[in-house]
This record gives sequence, structure tokens and C-alpha cells, in this order.
Amino acid sequence: MRTHYCGDVTEGLLDQDVEICGWVHRRRDHGGVIFIDLRDREGLLQVVFDPDRAEAFTTADRVRPEWVLKIRGRVRHRPEGTANASLNSGQVEVLGLEIEVLNQAKTPPFQLDEDDVGEDVRLRHRYIDLRRPAMQHNLQVRAKVTGFMHRFLDSHGFLDVETPMLTRATPEGARDFLVPSRLHAGSFYALPQSPQLFKQLLMMSGLDRYYQIVRCFRDEDLRADRQPEFTQLDVETSFMDEDQITTLMEKLVRELMDEVAGIQLGEPFARMTHAEAVERYGIDRPDLRIPMELVSVGDLLTDVEFKVFAAPANDPRGRIAALRVPGGNALTRKQIDDYTQFVGRYGAKGLAYIKVNDPSAGAEGLQSPILKFLPDTAISEILKRTGAVAGDLIFFGADKAKVVNESLAALRVRVGHDLDLVADEWRPLWVVDFPMFEYDEGDGRFYALHHPFTAPQVDSVEAFAAADPETILSRAYDLVLNGTELGGGSIRIHRPELQSAVFERLGIGEDEARDKFGFLLDALDYGAPPHGGIAFGLDRLVMLMTGASSIRDVMAFPKTQTGACLLTEAPAEVAQSALQDLHVRVHKPQKG
Ligand code: AMO
Ligand code: AMP
Repeated sequence: MRTHYCGDVTEGLLDQDVEICGWVHRRRDHGGVIFIDLRDREGLLQVVFDPDRAEAFTTADRVRPEWVLKIRGRVRHRPEGTANASLNSGQVEVLGLEIEVLNQAKTPPFQLDEDDVGEDVRLRHRYIDLRRPAMQHNLQVRAKVTGFMHRFLDSHGFLDVETPMLTRATPEGARDFLVPSRLHAGSFYALPQSPQLFKQLLMMSGLDRYYQIVRCFRDEDLRADRQPEFTQLDVETSFMDEDQITTLMEKLVRELMDEVAGIQLGEPFARMTHAEAVERYGIDRPDLRIPMELVSVGDLLTDVEFKVFAAPANDPRGRIAALRVPGGNALTRKQIDDYTQFVGRYGAKGLAYIKVNDPSAGAEGLQSPILKFLPDTAISEILKRTGAVAGDLIFFGADKAKVVNESLAALRVRVGHDLDLVADEWRPLWVVDFPMFEYDEGDGRFYALHHPFTAPQVDSVEAFAAADPETILSRAYDLVLNGTELGGGSIRIHRPELQSAVFERLGIGEDEARDKFGFLLDALDYGAPPHGGIAFGLDRLVMLMTGASSIRDVMAFPKTQTGACLLTEAPAEVAQSALQDLHVRVHKPQKG
């Protein structure tokens, strides 16, 4: 129906006739001439109608925003001084000769060029929201990203293989979405949290190199970078070690960012052990663009009378950390109170601080409600360790290490943004040497920090059994970019004895292991090659590349924070007869 996209009509087409189709973005009446900005996937184009062509003019006068038009017209220069540098077509306009209304539209529920439209309205009318240039851009970047991934992995010998959506639970740490079976009364499929077990089975099947751009399902609390269904680039290889896998994946990410978004990530990516990341940043996905670091000072405070400090200083699971805020001296009482409240969300019971006026003047040069509790030697060593200078402020967290790490890690990011300390750069980071297990004091048991198929750094069952579980490291690696966990993977266990030993350490008994993962244990018995892999969060990757503030903005039809689709109104109740077929009876919680 057309000769060109609106956004592609440029000076190269001067004096030619073009036919374009699209939506009315804006219509302006300028004293006898009518301007229509016509919009399609590739951009906007200004079309002018004058009364000399009466029929077209009359129609143009009648159209309203979001009507769908076909226009024939002649490309010409815009008059002096009216060029629009922000449009691809901004040097030209089209003199409208013919216009056909392909469809009318009701007044849209929001204006497409309005910036602060509520997300509920946008999601309810997603087909209109997606017409906005920013959303079109995001989806186009996303398509380029998946296109690049296919090309890169195809050219490196990876096979694209599909794995089932109706399956059994794969433990990735979230709750499963379940699908009741009609043919097997009382039984349920689980939607995959990831293709983890299938991709391992494909290695045992001799596929050697597998990948898939695949939907995963996790019933967990949603955040800006979490959706109940999301997409992974999932990869697995045989006969490669962690250095080879991370090197190849690093090449993929670097070339992808460069080709699709012109982003240079530098070479090679930084590497840091999990222990170092937690010590310096309190978290395993540090945003390295923010210069502040946590500094342990507990050893200086074992003998102080101040209980807030003395207790964690003497507790092996405790930590006292200082966080120097450059220029933080200027923070007001109110701001410090706000930050104290903020860390409270992470379980911190307070937020001690010292304002540094003159670090060379000892206690005289400082300002703090806790100075009276601290010996001079401790104070001067704290100033030295944190590198404090005049004008800084030092925050303190003192508690169980977990609370201190989580609260100060979050505070570091928050203060970094508030005080404009986030450098404008890209800081990729491989985090390696994760602990195998995490002890949960509440449950009194160990959990796998990644999933239970991750190989430990000890190779033999004997060495594994003899080691203190809290000290065993795994062969896992995460890729972090600017504080977002983009991907994670590991070398897997490929010997059945070691897999059974790990299950046992996790409190998964032999019967339970057979029931849940019997097929995997069997497959390990029939010649499993050494193998490993990784999965990237595609939505998160595209979010970073486009600068979107939420992964919802890079998904065509995302869910709300409560897991609802406002467009289709899913989830929804179903007919009683459908439930009967599925052998399901609903028992709703009583109100209140
Ligand atoms: P993991 O659980 O770390 O590993 O997931 C891999 C990546 O997927 C992304 N991701 C999510 N993105 C959006 N919404 C979510 N709810 C969500 N959950 C995870 C993250 C994450 O880094 N099978 C293993 C991979 C492996 O070992 O090969 C796995 O799924 O970016
Ligand atoms: P308090 O003696 O409870 O009034 O606390 C004195 C100072 O220590 C206040 O600035 C509190 O915010 C701070 N504080 C209290 N508990 C903690 C904690 N667990 N970690 C860090 N600072 C704390």
C-alpha cells in the first residue's frame, strides 16, 4: 500500500511522489493550511495540505489523532528555519495530494507524547502505548539483540533446541507455576523456572553446544527488574571449563553491546571473588560506577562500652562496617533520618554516623552523637582506613553481617544516586568463587547458593564430605553490569556420586532425590560429559541497553506488580465445568 515508511522519507527523495501509511500523531490548523504529523514504526513525517487541493484538504480537516491514513504526496524542502533536527525526516515535508482514511479512532485514553501517563492506563491499552516512539525503539532493540544472539551462537556451533514448557519443577529458588492435568487426575505440570535440567540432559545426549532464547516462569515477588515470565538466553556446552565459557560469553556480550547499541564495554571484564564483593560492597552484584566502599572496623571496637558496637564486634557472625560518603558532611539532620529509616527496611536498627570537619584535629574536628563512646585510637584508625577528608561523612552499620551487608549495600546505591556520585560509564564484572551453600539460621539448614547441580571446587566425594560446608566454593560465575545481575551459570556436577553427596548435604534424602530428579541421576550413570553453561536475563540486558527504568518497558505485554495482565485481565476465574475436567476444586481464603 505504500512506497516508503514515514521515517524514511528524507532529502534523497526531494521532488518525488511518495505513498505513506500511518497514524495521525498530531494535526494542526495554521490559518488555512493543515499540518498532519503522520507516524509509523520508523518515525514521524510532516504532511501539509493546502486548500488548492480541495478534496484532500476537506478530508485532512476532518481527521483526528490516531486515525489511520494513506497519503500520496510530493516531497519538498521545509521552509527556511522550520527544519526539525530531532526527526530523521526533519529536513523535508510532504505536500499532500491525496488522502484516504483507512480507519477512524476514538479519542485515545492518553496522549502519546505525554510523559507521565499512569502505568495502569498504559498497560490496559498497551496497543496504543506501544505506538509511542520510545516503546517502538525498545522493541526494535530487543529484536536486534535476539537476532545478534542467533547469529553469534549459530556461527560458534551452538544448536538451537526447544525444551518443554509442561514439565516438572526445576529448582531455581522461586515458587512454581502449576498446570493441572486433565488426563492424570490430581497431578500437575510445572512451568519451567529455567531449562536447567533439560539442557544438562542435552549435553548427556551428545548435542555438545546448545542454546535457546526461552521463556521462564517464576512465581516470586515482583520488582522493577523481575517478571513472573521472562526470557533467558540459555546456553550449555560440553568439554569446556569456566574460563573458556566466560571468555566466549564475554565476547558475545561485548560484541552485542557494540553492534546493537554502540556501547563499548572494554576488555577484559573485571573479575572479583564473591568474598571480596561482599567485603567491599556488601553484595554480590556491586555497581562499580559508585566509588564508595564498605570498610570493616569491628576489630577496633571489641572493647568499647557502646553495646551497639561491642556485641557485633565480638560475634563471629557479626560485622561493623563504615561507609565514607564524599561530601556527606553537608547532609542535613532530616536526610540522615531518612537514610536511617531507609536502612531500617533491611533490618538495621540504626545508622550511626560521624561528620568529618577536620580529620587532622582528632575528635575536635568531628561531629557525632557516638564520639563519646569511641576511644581516640579507634577514631583515628577509622579515619585512616576509610580515607576520610574534610567535608565527608562516615556511616556505620553494626549487626549480624547479613543485615549490615544488605542495608549498607542498599544505602550505598541510594546515596550514590542522591549525591550524583554515579559515574557515567559501563562497568561489567564477573563475580566468581561463590560459596556452594548458604546457611539459613531460621531453618537451621543449608541452601544451594545457585542451584543444586552446580559443581563444587572440590572434585572428590571424600574431600567434599570432609570439608566444612560453609567453606566449600562452587564453580559458579555471575555477570554483573552496573549493579544488575545480567546472567549466571556454572560448571555442573557430571558424576552421580558427587550429585548424590550434594543432595544429601542439602537435606534432600535419597528417596526425595529419586522422586524429583531420578531421571537426572539415571542419566549421569550413562556417560555424562563434563559440562557447564550460563543463562542471561534478556529483558534485563535490553533494559540496560535502552536505558529503560523497568523491564516492563522492554516487554511487549508485561504483568503488573501483582502479576496481572491488565489488557487481557489475566488471571481470571474459569467455568466450573473446566475445573471439573481438571479435577480441581477452588477453596478461596475468607475475606479478612
Ligand atoms: P538464574 O536463576 O541466575 O540462573 O537466572 C539467569 C538470569 O535470568 C534473569 N532473571 C530474571 N529476569 C527477569 N525476571 C525474573 N524473575 C528473573 N529471574 C532471573 C537474571 C538472571 O541472571 N539455570 C540457571 C542458569 C545456569 O546455571 O546456566 C538460571 O536460571 O538476569
Ligand atoms: P542509640 O544509643 O540507640 O541512641 O544509638 C546511637 C547511635 O547509634 C544512633 O545514631 C543510632 O542511629 C546508631 N545505631 C543504633 N543501632 C545501630 C546499629 N545496629 N548499627 C549502626 N548504628 C546504630
